[in-house]
Amino acid sequence: MRAIALRTEVPGPRSRALMARREAAVPRGPFHATPVFVAEAHGALLTDVDGNRLLDFAGGIGCLNVGHTSDEVVRAASAQLGRLTHGCFHVTPYEGYVRLAERLNAVVPGDFPKKTMFLNSGAEAVENAVKIARAATGRPAVLAFEDGFHGRTLLALSLTSKVHPYKEGFGPFAPEVYRAPYAYCYRCAYRLQYPSCDLACVDALEEFFKRYVEARQVAAVVVEPVLGEGGFVVPPVEFLPRLRELTARHGILLIADEVQTGFGRTGKMWAVEHAGVVPDLLVAAKSIAGGLPLSSVTGRAELMDAPGVGGLGGTFGGNPVSLAAAEAVLDLMSDGSLLARAERIGRVVSERAEGWRKRFPLVGDVRGLGAMWALELVKDPSSRVPAKEETAAVARRCYESGLVTITAGTWGNVIRTLMPLTIGDDELHEGLDVLEGALASVAQR
Ligand SMILES: Cc1ncc(COP(=O)(O)O)c(C=O)c1O
Repeated sequence: MRAIALRTEVPGPRSRALMARREAAVPRGPFHATPVFVAEAHGALLTDVDGNRLLDFAGGIGCLNVGHTSDEVVRAASAQLGRLTHGCFHVTPYEGYVRLAERLNAVVPGDFPKKTMFLNSGAEAVENAVKIARAATGRPAVLAFEDGFHGRTLLALSLTSKVHPYKEGFGPFAPEVYRAPYAYCYRCAYRLQYPSCDLACVDALEEFFKRYVEARQVAAVVVEPVLGEGGFVVPPVEFLPRLRELTARHGILLIADEVQTGFGRTGKMWAVEHAGVVPDLLVAAKSIAGGLPLSSVTGRAELMDAPGVGGLGGTFGGNPVSLAAAEAVLDLMSDGSLLARAERIGRVVSERAEGWRKRFPLVGDVRGLGAMWALELVKDPSSRVPAKEETAAVARRCYESGLVTITAGTWGNVIRTLMPLTIGDDELHEGLDVLEGALASVAQR
C-alpha cells in the first residue's frame, strides 16, 4: 500500500481557508515550509485538514526521531498529565527531573561527574550553556561559527550566523560574540582543499586570537558537530578533535550544540561520538521528548555548579509531562535499534542521492552523517552558484506530490532530510521517489 494518498490538490481547500485566517490573525514573521495545515500524525505519516495523507521528511524540524505520536511517548505523557502537569522545579521539586538528569548524565560522553538542567527550547539551553561557561571561567567572550545556527532569542541569535531573515532588523546584538569559518569544505572560506588544507580553519583560530579576541578572554567555543540550519555540513572527522585540543590548550570550554544532531539522528546518540570528542557542556533539545518541548544542558559537575543558587532556571523548565515523554524516548533508544535504523536510512538516502548528483548538474553536493543527509543545489557544478529558487521549487513540487521536506543553508539552497527514524523502507523509497521526480522536473526546466 502506498503511504501517500491525496484526495485533493495540496494545499487543499481547507488548508487554503485556514491560511487566509492565519494571515489575518498571525503576524507574517513565523514562517511555514509548506502551506499545508496538519490535523494528525503517526509515525512518518501526516494527515492534513483536507484528508490527504502525506509522508514526512521533516519531523517538525528534527523533533520526531522516534516518530509522531509514538505509542510509548503518548502513554508516558498521558499518564503524567493526570498526575502532575506543573509544579515548577523551583517551588516544589519532583523526582522526574532528577531521574532524567541522572539518565542524561549517564549517556552524555565524559568519564567524569556530570550534572544536567532542563529548559524549554534549544535557544534557551544554548543561552544557559553560555551563562554557565561565563560563570565558570570568569571570561566574557564566546566564539561561534559562520553558517552556525543556535536559536532566535537575543544571545542565541547573536551566536547565529545567517543574517536574512533571522537577524534582519533585530540589532543591537549581544556583545562579545565572535565568529570564525566552519569546516565547510564545499565552500571553503580559505579556498583550500581537504585533506591537503590540513584543517587550516582550525589553525586559523590561533591567528584569530591575535587579531580579534584574546584567547584568555574566551569562555567557550560553541559548535554544532554537523551544521543543521547551515545546510547539514559535515566537517572532516579531525575537525572536532583539533578544536577540542585547541580549546583545552587555552582553557576555553567546548560547548557541543547537539540540538539537531542529538538523540540518534546521526546514527549515534550524539554526533560528537563519531569524532570521539568529549565536550565540557552538551546542549540537547528537539527530539529529546518525542515532540514535546524540552531542552537540556549537561556538563562537568563543577562547571554546572558555577552559577550561584537561583542563577539558573525558569518557570516551565523541566515540565513533568515533557520529562516523562523524554524518559520514554530514552527507553526507546536504549537497545540501539533506532541508531542502527538511522545508519540504514543514511545508506539508502546517500546511495540514491549520489545517483542524483551524477544525473542532475543541479545537485552540486551530497553529504550527511547517519540519517542527516542533504543535497546542496547549484546553478552549475563548476560555479557552485547557489540555486535558491530551484531549491524552493523542488520543495514545492514535493509537498504538492505529498512529501513534506524542508530546506536549509545560508543561501537557502539545501534540501535536508529529517524523517522520523521509525520510517519503513517502503515509505522511505516512496518519499525518495517523490524527491527524485521533483529534482528531475526542476532540473529540466
Ligand atoms: C543546532 C541548533 N541549535 C539551536 C536551535 C534552536 O532551537 P529552538 O528552535 O528549540 O530554540 C536549533 C533549531 O533549529 C538548532 O538547530
